[in-house]
Amino acid sequence: MQEIIKTIEKIAVKISDELKYADLGYTDHANATGDTQLKLDVKSDNIITKEFDGVSSVRLLISEEKEEALKIHDSGKYIVAYDPLDGSSLVDVNFAVGSIFGIYENELKPSNLVAAIYCVYGPRLEMVVCTETPKLYRLDREGSFKFIKDLNLKEKGKLNATGGTQKGWSDEHRAFIKGLFDEGYRLRYSGAMVSDLHQILLKGGGLFSYPATSDAPHGKLRVSFEVLPFAFIYERAGGLTTDGNSKSLFEIKLEKIHQTTPCFFGSKYEINKLLESK
Ligand code: AHG
Ligand code: MN
Ligand code: MN
Repeated sequence: MQEIIKTIEKIAVKISDELKYADLGYTDHANATGDTQLKLDVKSDNIITKEFDGVSSVRLLISEEKEEALKIHDSGKYIVAYDPLDGSSLVDVNFAVGSIFGIYENELKPSNLVAAIYCVYGPRLEMVVCTETPKLYRLDREGSFKFIKDLNLKEKGKLNATGGTQKGWSDEHRAFIKGLFDEGYRLRYSGAMVSDLHQILLKGGGLFSYPATSDAPHGKLRVSFEVLPFAFIYERAGGLTTDGNSKSLFEIKLEKIHQTTPCFFGSKYEINKLLESK
C-alpha cells in the first residue's frame, strides 16, 4: 500500500505541472460515459497508467477515461479505480480540480475497498489519504508531502453543495434542499466534486448531493472511482452516506465499471434528516 501511496504522490506532482502549462483543448473522442475527452483528461490518464506500470502489487487499472479495465500485473492483489481529472471542464476557468483513487483488494466490490485517496490541484497541492481515517497532506517548497492534520466531520455543518439539473429534480428532493437553505445552510457548488467535498470536509460538515434527475435517473457520478472513494472517506471522518434510501453507499451492488448512482455525502445531521424525510 505504501508503494501505491508514493506512486500517487508522484502522479499528483506530474498532473499538477501539466495543469499549469498544457493545452486546454478537446480531443475528438468520447469516454465510456459519453463526455468528450479533454486533452488534459487523456494526459492525466496516461501519466497514471505509466506510473502504475512499475507497481507490481497492482493487477488492474480502471479509469474513467478507459472503456475497459487494463490488466498490468497478473499477480498483483490490488485494483486501482480512478478518475484522472475530476472537474476537468473547469480548468479553463482556473478553478480547483482533482484526481480520485479507490484501491480495492482482489475484487472490484464495495466491501473490498481498502483505501481512498484524492488530490486537489488548487492554489496548493493537497492530498487526502484514507486507510483507517482521512489525513490531509500538503506539498511543501522542498517538493514533499507534509502531514497537516486528521480530518473529522462535525455532527452538523453549514454548507449545502447541490448538483444535477434542477429542473429535473423530484419534488421531494427540491423540498429537502429548500429545507436546508431555510435552516440557514449556505450554497457552495463549483462543479468539481473533489473541490466541493474537500471544502465540506475541511470546514467540518454539510451536505454534498447529486440526486437522480429526470434526465439522469441513475445519477451522474460513477460508483467505483468517484462515489465509493468519497463514501469511504466521509464515513471514516464520522459522516454518513446514502443513495437517497440506503443506510450507506456501501450497500450498492457494483455490476459495471462505469456504473453511476445518485449519492449523498454529509455529516450525520443532514443525512439523518434526509432519511427521516422519506
Ligand atoms: P468529471 O470532470 O470527472 O467528468 O466529473 C465532473 C463531475 C463532478 O466532479 C461534479 O460534481 C459533477 O460532474 C458536476 O456535474 P453538474 O454540472 O451536472 O452538476
Ligand atoms: Mn469526476
Ligand atoms: Mn474526470
